[in-house]
Amino acid sequence: MAAIIMDGKALAAKWKDNIRTQVAALSQRPGLAVILVGNDPASRVYVTNKEKDCAQCGIYSEEFALPAEIGQQALLELIEELNRRPEIDGILCQLPLPKGYDYDEEQVLQAIDPRKDVDAFHPYNVGRIMIGDYTFLPCTPAGVMALLDEYGIDPAGKRCVVVGRSNIVGKPQAMLLLHRHGTVTICHSRTPDLGSVTREADILVSAVGKRNLITADMVKKGAAVIDVAMNRDENGKLCGDVDFAPVAEKAAYITPVPGGCGPMTRVMLLQNTLAAARAHGKA
Ligand code: GUN
Repeated sequence: MAAIIMDGKALAAKWKDNIRTQVAALSQRPGLAVILVGNDPASRVYVTNKEKDCAQCGIYSEEFALPAEIGQQALLELIEELNRRPEIDGILCQLPLPKGYDYDEEQVLQAIDPRKDVDAFHPYNVGRIMIGDYTFLPCTPAGVMALLDEYGIDPAGKRCVVVGRSNIVGKPQAMLLLHRHGTVTICHSRTPDLGSVTREADILVSAVGKRNLITADMVKKGAAVIDVAMNRDENGKLCGDVDFAPVAEKAAYITPVPGGCGPMTRVMLLQNTLAAARAHGKA
């Protein structure tokens, strides 16, 4: 039996309709500042997509495209200015920052006012996610939870395995599953015999960035397999970590790449910008 394909694109469209309605009911528009340093083509695409999403939902967005050589100090000064501007509710600095310069990513993330940190990357917001009391959702993990909810997959009492331990996905993903009463294991590059752990998973989330990392023999029959990764195959086609066709034969639910987690990540940024605007008194 083939798995049910979890349609992130359709769910994202539904969420966006809802966000658009909520934004339209506000007397002041939420505003998002998007900072892009350098000219990485993938980052350029991500930033353009985020701005399109904002426009579709009635959120004001302002782009700051800076040359790679602008430097840490000027970047921090821009963030300070955006922290002070009342029409800007959210500030996002697209990562990674250009290599070969003096950028300190941690310092940049900490310079963003935690009340405007719509990526939820500031240590203050990370801490709040950890204790389960947070305004800003970690975008990719929250998108995964929304997909699970949409398909009636409840983590409570289930074995959940997260492959990948990044600050952006793996760690906050584990927390969200834990808050929903999953029994959570985090695996990573030093985990011996990865398959022996992933085979235990009722819910398997892979966020590594390695094509065909998750093969059918590593998946329990009837599992929900969530592929957060965004890789390219030898033909330049987008793919995830999961060896899709054979795994789809074994799993009960699976997310495609593209069209699974990606659209939901983008939606959560909009949700956070709306939450920021409300927290700033826009009603
Ligand atoms: N680079 C890759 N993913 C992200 C993200 O979610 N936010 C930012 N700011 N940069 C990223």
